[in-house]
Amino acid sequence: MLQSIAYENLSNPPATSAGRETLRQQLIHTREYVLERLRRNLASFGDKFPAETCVNGRYPLTENVEWTTSFWTGQLWLAWEMSGDEVFREAARRQVRSFGLRIAGRHDTNTHDLGFLYTLSCVADWRLNGSREARGFALLASEALLERYHAKAQIIQAWGDLDDPEQAGRMIIDCTMNLPLLYWASEQTGDPRFANAARAHVNQSARYLVRPDASTWHTYYMDRTTGEPRYGNTQQGYADDSCWSRGQAWAIYGFLLSFIYTGDKTMVTLSKKVANYFLNRLPEDGVCHWDLALKDTDALRDSSSAAIAVCGLLELVNHLPVTDPARARYQSWAEHIMASLSRNYLVQPDDSGTGLLKHSVYHLASNKGVDECCSWGDYFYVEALMRMTESWKRYW
Ligand code: GLY
Repeated sequence: MLQSIAYENLSNPPATSAGRETLRQQLIHTREYVLERLRRNLASFGDKFPAETCVNGRYPLTENVEWTTSFWTGQLWLAWEMSGDEVFREAARRQVRSFGLRIAGRHDTNTHDLGFLYTLSCVADWRLNGSREARGFALLASEALLERYHAKAQIIQAWGDLDDPEQAGRMIIDCTMNLPLLYWASEQTGDPRFANAARAHVNQSARYLVRPDASTWHTYYMDRTTGEPRYGNTQQGYADDSCWSRGQAWAIYGFLLSFIYTGDKTMVTLSKKVANYFLNRLPEDGVCHWDLALKDTDALRDSSSAAIAVCGLLELVNHLPVTDPARARYQSWAEHIMASLSRNYLVQPDDSGTGLLKHSVYHLASNKGVDECCSWGDYFYVEALMRMTESWKRYW
């Protein structure tokens, strides 16, 4: 069935002025600059977290609530890996304890985004430092995420209470990024329930969230009684039948992550198909409009989708044989986008804001975070910086 999804020819990226090694040297400098900004942000945030929605380039501060707090913790882990500066590790560890309290008390945990939340905080701490405490918190979060799996529909419900009629049976493309927590939990415990749910969910996502032209629905409803597909729609894109850029970027990276855990090669092909759709609809500077249907218009850009796509493409390159002619092109596209983000979207030295990557769109229809920074854009930009300047082991 997945064979019927289109495989567009991948266009070449525009020629870049800098060669590969020049770009790498530039990014090594950029890394130092970004580390300085992160140090400054840490001093200003203390043990609070940047809020879900940025305002005029500055994050209001919050407790550990909502779906985005771990993007800050993840930046701290990356900053510690890049610099070796203990100030970052100490701060990240305090945040891991906050994630422990959050899952133990089940505060604001009614979401599939437990994957983002616990992978970038606790699983990262386990992988980097072997913290058993962090491992335990992440396993509790995996149990909570598994509760959202619906066996008949074979999907993980994205949002809301499980009996909420508006949300029941609804899966979303973003969730492909939340599945590594479940695969990891099965690896850790030997209990196959987590990975089985993740595998079933990703197969349903591939079947129903990806359209025949390799674009994606943002969300899709399944019938919880019969398990049959119902219909797709958008929450954050331009229209039901358009293609929300961030959803497509989550798909590039997310399907590939499932391949890494399951070895299912159809997920690599799917990642390539959705990547080609994404890359073939970029404006000249390589940073997508907030919806891919808005190509050739003056619509706002979403730099966060661009940063996510760079990470997904770099990971994709790692899993393609050298004989695959598309491999070098994905690498070049990732470099083109990253060079553009670094040149024109990264916060300037004289900017007093606390965001890193400007010009993202969180949710246009509800006027949230429009042409702003966002913590996930910041996180994936720093992950991309790490990936392009040294070899790195995934937290995912
Ligand atoms: N996962 C929510 C978003 O990408 O806006």
